[in-house]
Amino acid sequence: MTSAGLYDVIGRRRDVRAEFTGAPIDPEALDRILGAAHTAPSVGMSQPWDFVLVRDQRTRKAFHTHVLGERRVFQDSLDGERAQTFTTIKIEGILESTVGIVVTYDPTRAGPAVLGRHTNPEAGLYSVCLAIENLWLAATAEGLGVGWVSFFREPFLRELLGIPATIRPIAWLCVGPVTSLQVTPDLERHGWRSPAPLSSVVHYEQYDSARA
Ligand SMILES: Cc1cc2nc3c(=O)[nH]c(=O)nc-3n(C[C@H](O)[C@H](O)[C@H](O)COP(=O)(O)O)c2cc1C
Repeated sequence: MTSAGLYDVIGRRRDVRAEFTGAPIDPEALDRILGAAHTAPSVGMSQPWDFVLVRDQRTRKAFHTHVLGERRVFQDSLDGERAQTFTTIKIEGILESTVGIVVTYDPTRAGPAVLGRHTNPEAGLYSVCLAIENLWLAATAEGLGVGWVSFFREPFLRELLGIPATIRPIAWLCVGPVTSLQVTPDLERHGWRSPAPLSSVVHYEQYDSARA
């Protein structure tokens, strides 16, 4: 792929909620996107991630019900206009997507002496997020959509999928073929929040608080 191709994929990547078709995923494409996730950089080469592929409808329905409950909790914390705007926003495609990929973080992976983590225990978690971004971009390049669901309580998802207590479920990714990818992010289209310009987040020499 050319560098232009890479930037094109980065620009086309969207968080997908409403556009999943539920059609099957080419198993080789699925292998490639999981492989892309697994080649992400990780602190001390710890590769502290695992991927749980969930197709079972009963499991997905149970998770969906839990997520709807958490959506209500958030909805109830909003007032007036924000609450009204939020009602128009879809926050997941758990049942409509082809597969759920749950990405977990194992803080014990690679033992206690992880090179580069002693000053920052969160570096393992950052590594998992990089694996997710690799998966997201690879899926976009394959013509698939991905939607990150974070409206869940970790103990619930642990229990649902038999994840050991030491391991953290980080994301439920809804993955599958889509009718199309939106050009404008959903939250912007629905008037929830617009992206900030690059110039507002780039600082020179010192952190300029006036910008933040
Ligand atoms: C850590 C993280 C958690 C997110 N959780 C959710 C979620 O629970 N539901 C949802 O609809 N979108 C979720 N998103 C997607 C963001 O809303 C989305 O990335 C953002 O609005 C920008 O849109 P874009 O990804 O289409 O560019 C999440 C994204 C990240 C990075």
